[in-house]
Amino acid sequence: MTAFEIDGARIAYDDTGSPRPGAPTLVLLHGFPLSRAMWSAQTEGLARVARVVAPDLRGYGDSTSGGWPSGGDAASLDRYADDVAALIDHLDADWPVVLTGFSMGGYIAMALLRRHPGLVDGVVLMDTRAVVDSEEARATRLKMADKIGEWGAARVAELMRPNLFADGTPDVTVEAALPVIAATAPETIAASQRAMAARPDSTPLLGQIDKPALVVCGEHDAISPPAEMRSLAEAIPGARFVEIEGAGHMAPVERPDAVNVTLRNFLARVSSEVPR
Ligand code: MLT
Repeated sequence: MTAFEIDGARIAYDDTGSPRPGAPTLVLLHGFPLSRAMWSAQTEGLARVARVVAPDLRGYGDSTSGGWPSGGDAASLDRYADDVAALIDHLDADWPVVLTGFSMGGYIAMALLRRHPGLVDGVVLMDTRAVVDSEEARATRLKMADKIGEWGAARVAELMRPNLFADGTPDVTVEAALPVIAATAPETIAASQRAMAARPDSTPLLGQIDKPALVVCGEHDAISPPAEMRSLAEAIPGARFVEIEGAGHMAPVERPDAVNVTLRNFLARVSSEVPR
């Protein structure tokens, strides 16, 4: 693990894999309320073909929050996107840079494409959504943000559990993810929920994505269902859609081999299509 400082926070990240010139750099953004630990199978499985960089987003895992959001600051996903942009700058990465965002990480990847479009050469949107929340979903997020101090993060792990994994996922896989949620700081959960509740509709962005794009979704994803993700892919010019058989929302954890093959093929595509 290594770290860098940005606007009062220390952002921790794993930086592993192939340092050979010309190897792609794959940046992996985790979901809510998880950490870079969710990418361990990708970090390990793709290290021979790419430099693999997995940060803990602000306030998560080994990263600090730097007191964000404080005072009159409104929590916004743009804060995370700007942190990731600073990380990519800091990496001084070799060409090409491929950004992968899982679920909340996908919302952040879309914010980064809006704010820093020149920083990445390809994008993977995984088990995520472009549309805004329904009124009901937004109210649920804001209630959790208000109550998390009383509830504690372990309750969030139990609330989320039924929607994360496909039926039949081995207990050992589920039991590895839940403690990561339960260990997340309540202030971080509140900040992310407020930021996600306030996120803009990214649908208009999709048609403007002018770089290679891949959309990946678990066959049984209950949070960002395949039919919705297929439409998301259809709205991005030239994007490919891949459904991961047997997986739920946590596709990269549940079916790491299938996800790694998909990512490896995409990295090869970006390397061959994107001019230096
Ligand atoms: C995630 O996995 O990041 C969350 O389920 C996203 C969300 O709450 O919309």
